[in-house]
Amino acid sequence: MPPIVRSPRLFVLVGAAIASALVAAPALAGNGGFAPVPPESPNAEGIHQSYLFISIFCLAIFVLVEGLLIAFVVRYRRRNRPRHADGAQIHGATRLELAWTLGPVVILFVIAAFVFAKLPGIQDVPAASAGTSNLVVDVTGTQFSWEFRYPNGVVAFDRMRAPEGRTVELRVTAPDWDVIHSWWIPALAGKIDAIPGRVNRTWFKAQRTGIFQGQCAELCGLFHAKMLASVEVLPTGEFDAWLEQSKQQQDAGTGPLGEEMWGATCAKCHGPSGEGDYGPKIAGTALVGNPEAVEGVLRNGFGRMPPVGRDWNDNEMTAITAYLKENVGGG
Ligand code: CUA
Repeated sequence: MPPIVRSPRLFVLVGAAIASALVAAPALAGNGGFAPVPPESPNAEGIHQSYLFISIFCLAIFVLVEGLLIAFVVRYRRRNRPRHADGAQIHGATRLELAWTLGPVVILFVIAAFVFAKLPGIQDVPAASAGTSNLVVDVTGTQFSWEFRYPNGVVAFDRMRAPEGRTVELRVTAPDWDVIHSWWIPALAGKIDAIPGRVNRTWFKAQRTGIFQGQCAELCGLFHAKMLASVEVLPTGEFDAWLEQSKQQQDAGTGPLGEEMWGATCAKCHGPSGEGDYGPKIAGTALVGNPEAVEGVLRNGFGRMPPVGRDWNDNEMTAITAYLKENVGGG
């Protein structure tokens, strides 16, 4: 019977083909396709560094193991030995055995030490420095939107505004009638679960202005994929002006809150114009034109619809019922 593999050159060829396939995909993607998005907050920076540090070992171990595998396949191949004869037997190699026991122990220790050294900078909310207090924002995840509450009572949905260069402390939770979600803006720190009845804390301190995209990172139901989030980082003055203006608008029942709530909490299930999708058609119905009836449904739920508005304050309820009456209902 002819040998299955005639030449070591074939191994080299196959090895090169696999290697190029592995390298091609990351090389074609943005950011090298290898690392997470560029960090824009000190804690995201810590996560980024840990990721790269651990990757060095992963890559080295991968190359070592696969290299040895290919080398051994070539070196100890059957050659002219009869098909059922065993190869040469070996027993014991003390130095080798010590090396492959101690090597991994040392590697794991080095990785653990690095990560534990980085952890406080990732997890601990920095204390407020002289002159600037931390901004505390309450983040609530519900199927399938994110609600943000600012200290002055201003509310926003799905897009958080935040000041540049100031520590923003997030208190992340979910209502007790809802399910677990996960808050995650990759450029501004890691994931943190939004758990019903529990408050988890995280933070960021954005190093530049811009819009940073994120996504609920816990499978939370049918429209999990629509549970997007973004943080718009503004220069401090602009942020303060936005917060003050929003306060006045929301207290007066004007401004974009109603439309924002429509997009975040209604349209995902009922369709962009309320024409019906997963949820029934609501456009043009008498119920939607009746603020009191709408409030009842929002506070108590109806059929498969969860009580999305149970914890909404008066400003929110006014904003959404007025928007529905004016733009979606049958009048
Ligand atoms: Cu909320 Cu996935």
